[in-house]
Amino acid sequence: MIGGGPAGLFFASLMKQADPAHEIVVHERNRLDDTFGFGVVFSDATEEALAAADPAVTAAMAAHSHRWDDIAIHYRGTTIPSTGHGFSGLSRRTLLAILADRCRGLGVDLRFQCEVTDPATLRGADLVLAADGVNSLVRERYREHFAPAVDTRPNRFVWLGTARPFPAFTFYFKRDPHGLWRVHAYQYEPERSTFIVEATEATWRAAGMDRASEAETIAFCERLFADELQGHGLIGNRSLWRSFPTIRNARWSHGNVVLVGDAAHTAHFSVGSGTKLAMEDAVALAAALRQHGDVPAALAAYEEARRPAVESLQRAAQVSLQWFEDTERYMDLEPLQFAFTLLTRSLRITHGNLKTRDPAFVAKVDAWFADHAFRQAGTPAPATPPPPPMFTPFRLRDLVLTNRVAVSPMCQYTAEDGMPNDWHLVHLGSRAMGGAGLLFTEMTDVSAEGRISPFCTGLYRPEHAAAWKRIVDFVHANTAAQIAVQLGHAGRKASTQRMWEGDNQPLPAGNWPLVAPSPIPYFPHSQVPKEMTRADMDRVVADHARATELAIAAGFDMLEIHMAHGYLLASFISAITNRRTDEYGGSLVNRMRFPLEVFDAVRAVWPAERPMSVRISAVDWYPGGNEPADAVEVARLLHAHGCDIVDVSAGQTVPDQRPVYGRLFQTPFADRIRHEVGIATMAVGNISSYADVNTILAAGRADLCLLARAHLWNPYWTRHAAWELGYPLRWPDQYETLNNYRPRFV
Ligand SMILES: Cc1cc2nc3c(=O)[nH]c(=O)nc-3n(C[C@H](O)[C@H](O)[C@H](O)COP(=O)(O)OP(=O)(O)OC[C@H]3O[C@@H](n4cnc5c(N)ncnc54)[C@H](O)[C@@H]3O)c2cc1C
Ligand SMILES: Cc1cc2nc3c(=O)[nH]c(=O)nc-3n(C[C@H](O)[C@H](O)[C@H](O)COP(=O)(O)O)c2cc1C
Repeated sequence: MIGGGPAGLFFASLMKQADPAHEIVVHERNRLDDTFGFGVVFSDATEEALAAADPAVTAAMAAHSHRWDDIAIHYRGTTIPSTGHGFSGLSRRTLLAILADRCRGLGVDLRFQCEVTDPATLRGADLVLAADGVNSLVRERYREHFAPAVDTRPNRFVWLGTARPFPAFTFYFKRDPHGLWRVHAYQYEPERSTFIVEATEATWRAAGMDRASEAETIAFCERLFADELQGHGLIGNRSLWRSFPTIRNARWSHGNVVLVGDAAHTAHFSVGSGTKLAMEDAVALAAALRQHGDVPAALAAYEEARRPAVESLQRAAQVSLQWFEDTERYMDLEPLQFAFTLLTRSLRITHGNLKTRDPAFVAKVDAWFADHAFRQAGTPAPATPPPPPMFTPFRLRDLVLTNRVAVSPMCQYTAEDGMPNDWHLVHLGSRAMGGAGLLFTEMTDVSAEGRISPFCTGLYRPEHAAAWKRIVDFVHANTAAQIAVQLGHAGRKASTQRMWEGDNQPLPAGNWPLVAPSPIPYFPHSQVPKEMTRADMDRVVADHARATELAIAAGFDMLEIHMAHGYLLASFISAITNRRTDEYGGSLVNRMRFPLEVFDAVRAVWPAERPMSVRISAVDWYPGGNEPADAVEVARLLHAHGCDIVDVSAGQTVPDQRPVYGRLFQTPFADRIRHEVGIATMAVGNISSYADVNTILAAGRADLCLLARAHLWNPYWTRHAAWELGYPLRWPDQYETLNNYRPRFV
């Protein structure tokens, strides 16, 4: 084994316990007490998991830990406390001493001050454990096999210690003339706390920290945090400013060599310690080796079992570290909301989790949120207690939604020549009865040629308005929901098959000609669209204006223009699909020119008291395509043209996109646009629980949450959520009996 950190030592002890006949040699270049870092953090849940592997080690750890339940957030002159978090701090040095003792007691051969310079010399062993940390020599030696990727983050941080005891896990957000400084501080033993200082690169440079020695760094931080340190000094221990490297490896093993801990993967310190991951790796690898006799099978099983959990934690760590990179964005929030967004920053801790941990804190957040919401909507607040965030109203111009859940647009591929029918009535009607505050129609096309498929709905003939009116009237007459139409033109993605017959695939017969900003087919085998002339553009603008007139006739409450997913207007916005050399191509301002012309034409027709939204793809997930920063500029332009709310989706611009999916994967884009542009946003994408909806809203990441598949799966999703949250919605009179009925599902 190379490396006597937490991963190496814990693994050695577990293997020796599994079979005392194992011969295990740990090579560690440092002395045992020669370690960097101060305290490591474990959650109660992690400790329980580790205890199952070796109760003796965790008992010793617990005996030396400092436990706390509280988090204290110091922000703009106030302190916001929150409780119920259950963490412990432990000195890294003590942890290593406990692990080394355990190893010695079991007969592991520990060789300190023994540096391995060429891992190949150890390959005669049955197994070579590369537990050699973040700068792993082994990983570098076999890099073509492990294929590591190192993402060096822009913020700078320094790991310091102090004798000041902190009763809670403590965050400071402090401005000085150079910028904003963040501190993560926690106690790990009597009179010892970790004190990590973090700043953006600009702030760090402005303060001259790029040229500071360790002593100068300490002196600077002691001056800056004199009040917070309450007379205590800061302690260094190779305390140099660093940039956090997020490390990933395509493969974790190579023959009999396996990477564990920081050598294999890192996760930002703001989501708990890398030490936890390192020790969990040790447990998983030892278990795999116990289960499988031969090493290659065990290493494959280890990676298969462990990788999903590690990658999920890395995704949580990624959003968490970005929150700390972007903290300046949130510095105008009111203290309670700032605390809520900080506590839920990883998108894994929800409103529901916090309610369990600290009901009083969440009650305060809910009351604050509801107060704002009812004032914004101009409607009277109900008697106490306040509704959870998702059941507060929201106003857009004269439209007041009764709650913050919307059914996202979903193509049904069931219309004939654009006519919505009974399927659409039942599809939308049942979801309106199901309690959503707002429904979106599927992408409804402004012309026959703009349809994705021959089965898409449209608003290009007067009969379409009448058919839509039947649905709109049903929704208005029977439910509290409002209904928006999503207008679109499929551009180069038109004339294709139904999703379930061949998504985006050209029709086998009966195709119609396509238009697009540039003559680039979607798939190599797709039709080549015609590059639009000015006359084509005029026609498309007029089609949108006519569709808007028809939408008014149908009685829709809100109108959304589809500028996402690679359809016509989206393909103007993305440089991958727009290669024009006229004033409609080139810069983002040019690429937005035609979409904005369409927007203005619609806005001019659509009644001033009714709101408009625009769906955008916040990122193309493709090199050379739009990035989230471009989406901010897109939203800024839309805002300037009178768009009320941006519907923030992503991708689908090109078939070979490389999206990063996961829970709430598009929500950070909505959050960024909302704060950087100051426009309302809708979040969409893998939102499936009411806890997530409440979290997104209370944290101010979006104003509305759109659910597609979740509300498709359960048309009564919103009612069900309301009932679970103890805030049941009144049933329609026909179902009055249900007001006194208690459902049982199991
Ligand atoms: C400066 C710094 C401070 C940190 N402080 C903390 C903290 O306070 N709390 C916390 O939770 N996390 C801290 N971390 C992160 C944490 O240390 C790691 O996530 C965790 O220790 C990973 O465990 P590991 O066993 O994989 O690697 P490590 O703990 O890094 O252990 C790797 C070991 O391998 C040894 N080694 C490397 N190469 C060789 C070689 N060629 N031959 C022999 N030995 C070798 C190293 O000396 C080291 O002891 C800190 C990280 C850094 C960089
Ligand atoms: C069957 C289906 C049809 C869809 N049709 C549309 C559409 O017409 N317009 C649109 O903007 N998005 C459409 N989408 C995308 C959804 O609106 C939504 O953005 C996406 O499904 C992610 O949300 P979810 O994770 O809640 O499903 C569709 C999605 C599904 C599953």
